[in-house]
Amino acid sequence: MKRTIKDIDVKGKRVLLRVDFNVPLDDSGNITDASRIIKELPTIKYLISRSAKVIICTHLGRPKGEPNPRLSTIVIAKYLVGVLHCKIRFSPTAVGEQAKKMADELQDGEVLVLENIRFYKGEEENSPIFANKLAQLADIYVNDAFGTAHRKHASIYGVAKLLPNAVGFLMGNEINTISAILEKPEHPFVAILGGAKVSDKLAVVHNLIKLCDTVLIGGGMAYTFLRAQGANIGKSLYEEECLEDAKSILSEAQQNGKEIILPVDHITSTVLSPNATVINIPTKDIPDPLVGLDIGKKTIKLFVKKIKQAKTVIWNGPMGVFEYDSFKNGTKKIAKAVAKNKGKTVVGGGDSIAALHALKLDKYIYHISTGGGASLKLIAGESLPGVDVISDVEE
Ligand code: 3PG
Repeated sequence: MKRTIKDIDVKGKRVLLRVDFNVPLDDSGNITDASRIIKELPTIKYLISRSAKVIICTHLGRPKGEPNPRLSTIVIAKYLVGVLHCKIRFSPTAVGEQAKKMADELQDGEVLVLENIRFYKGEEENSPIFANKLAQLADIYVNDAFGTAHRKHASIYGVAKLLPNAVGFLMGNEINTISAILEKPEHPFVAILGGAKVSDKLAVVHNLIKLCDTVLIGGGMAYTFLRAQGANIGKSLYEEECLEDAKSILSEAQQNGKEIILPVDHITSTVLSPNATVINIPTKDIPDPLVGLDIGKKTIKLFVKKIKQAKTVIWNGPMGVFEYDSFKNGTKKIAKAVAKNKGKTVVGGGDSIAALHALKLDKYIYHISTGGGASLKLIAGESLPGVDVISDVEE
């Protein structure tokens, strides 16, 4: 069992708290969904109540190692001012003299928000020099960034090796809840996968067919699998370099009596645009020059039937181009079916959660994970560097 913040004395200590406040922003830079911050508040409030000096570190977006004012975490500091009743400071740098001085001057029970950690190349490179600079800010490191626990970055991995460490409440809750479900999953166990990139999820599908009875694949990733099956996918996007792996996953599933169900009809268009003319294709094959943009009615029926029968469901990724009204029906119907399921349901990934929010169905889900890629990896039995690196609790 991993050490948690309850196992360590934080009074008067500078605590570097790595969180995942990678929240969606609108064009004016306003936070459009603060769920990830709200779910983190119990850990922050606990540390404040224990008189820690809380130094908050997060990434926001993918600035690729360069400063980008549109992705400044000052927006996070401003949000926290409205929800925490303590002094909140903002450091315009995440490491270096200024950040160190501000960290050293923090009083017990105060909060310092560091600038976006991904403004620095050393972060994603897991540079030991950068990790060391970060470690100089604090006495204790706490990782509560479940959504980023699958990244071996300096603020997730490198720095944890340099300081006494622990996990926060959010991380502990995600791991305990998901692990408990997986320990003895009730069957039928159905996984629903969607989203664009199949390359990110191939290893996960591979592991999931060992655990689940049925894997339903929709969204952009379905076209690579359909193509691997020999179907015509018109001009739909697929990943050529993943075809062989997709083929072997399909045949492995068949050999082991597991089902991988792919779309049998499609909502298509010739272009991807909000006002595109929508063309229903009632067959698995998509003629040229059409592009598959959502699952069709027959597929929805097939998927919903499997979801209804399931006792354990995990869902990650939209079934179509959810951003556009014409192509969001598949995702909405899947959201409704998952919400109706009375078994253990786990949902991760921004678009799937956004669909649940939009339909006000969140409260019917057993566990909404703050992690997309991280929750899938955990479910698929892969290791999470951000968790592995944390010390075990002493017996
Ligand atoms: C997420 O939103 O999934 C996490 O914050 C991880 O972000 P990343 O995929 O840019 O590493």
